[in-house]
Amino acid sequence: MKNDSQITVLDHPGVRHHLGILRSKASELSTFRSAAASVTRYLMAEIVKTSEEKNVEIETPMERTVGQVMEESFVLIPILRAGLGMLDVALDFLPEAKVGFIGMERDETSASAKSYYAKFPDLRGRTAILLDPMLATGGSAIQAVKVLLANGPKRVILASIIAAPEGITAFREACPEVGLIIACVDRELDASKYIRPGLGDFGDRLYGTTPH
Ligand code: PRP
Ligand code: URA
Repeated sequence: MKNDSQITVLDHPGVRHHLGILRSKASELSTFRSAAASVTRYLMAEIVKTSEEKNVEIETPMERTVGQVMEESFVLIPILRAGLGMLDVALDFLPEAKVGFIGMERDETSASAKSYYAKFPDLRGRTAILLDPMLATGGSAIQAVKVLLANGPKRVILASIIAAPEGITAFREACPEVGLIIACVDRELDASKYIRPGLGDFGDRLYGTTPH
């Protein structure tokens, strides 16, 4: 597998603008969803920048020239549930991508993640882009990456919106070969392993469920 160990944190006023909307508890469902989509656009633009290309001959109405096509074959894998909020935008960027799903849920008290579902296409020779907006302890993403790596992808990239420093450290240690692209690094995890300042529970905010 290609080693892709870099970490990229977006630095863009547009990202910061939409992060503010995501964080605000005053944001309605529709506003939250569209801000999540906006930040995901910036993340996807950054990911697609790293894609392999090849030259192809093109005939314009004026003359023959050389254009480029993306050569890489992608599989988008949202971690259920919250990662679903990033899928539509990711597909806008990569309309030919195949799609898989991994279900992960943190236990309310221990905050350790358990897998409850996994279904994805053949990953051999393909780049898997894992979509999960929150990297808190890193447990969910690390477990999901392990499942993917066992299936022979060419490379794996994790795209997250907000990460805690603790999650980044754990993820880097457990998955050194995986590229990490995040919109923002927050201050810390609290005693309940929630990200501070954070935005609360992304899945609850995206779907209107209430924490129990
Ligand atoms: C959230 C989030 C991540 C995970 C991050 O999911 O979407 O998957 O927590 O936390 P971690 O880094 O400590 O593992 P959650 O378990 O709340 O499930 P949900 O998406 O169904 O709400
Ligand atoms: N999952 C979330 O949705 N939010 C957090 O702050 C931590 C984990």
